[in-house]
Amino acid sequence: MKLLVINGPNLNMLGQREKAQYGSLTLPEIEGMIRETYADVAFTFFQSNHEGEIVEKLHDVVKKGGYDAIIANFGAYTHTSVAIRDALSMVTVPKVEVHLSNIHAREEFRHTSLTGGVCDGIVAGFGVDSYILGIQAALNLISS
Ligand code: DQA
Repeated sequence: MKLLVINGPNLNMLGQREKAQYGSLTLPEIEGMIRETYADVAFTFFQSNHEGEIVEKLHDVVKKGGYDAIIANFGAYTHTSVAIRDALSMVTVPKVEVHLSNIHAREEFRHTSLTGGVCDGIVAGFGVDSYILGIQAALNLISS
C-alpha cells in the first residue's frame, strides 16, 4: 500500500507554531508516529508552503499514479484555494482531508473547507490522531 501525505503552508513550523492550537510535536515527529503506527504502509511525505507546488504534486499523482490514497492537510489553503480544489478533483484514488485543530470551533473563515468538498471525508480536531484516523479511513476505503 502506497500513501501520499501532503502538508501545506506553515505545517513545517509545527513544534514552534501556536502550540496551544497545534501541540508541540514537529512535523518530522508526526511523520515518525505515522510510520510507526502503519509499519506495513509505504509513505511519501510532501510538504510545501507554495500553492503551485501542491497543485503540481497533485498533477503528478494524476499523470503518473503510484499512490493508493492521499491524506492531506492543506493548512490555510484549505479555506482559500480553488486551484488546489480543482487539482484534487482530478485525483481518483481515495482522498482524506485532516486538520490538527477543530476548524469548526475556530474563526469563521476557517469553517469553510474548499478542498474538503472534493475529498471522501474530513477528520479534524484530534491533533496527530487526525492523521492516524484519516489514514485508517483511507485504508478502509481502499479495501472496501
Ligand atoms: C490547520 C487549520 C488551518 O485553518 C490552519 O490554517 C492551518 C492548520 C490544522 O491542521 O488545524 O495551517 O489545517
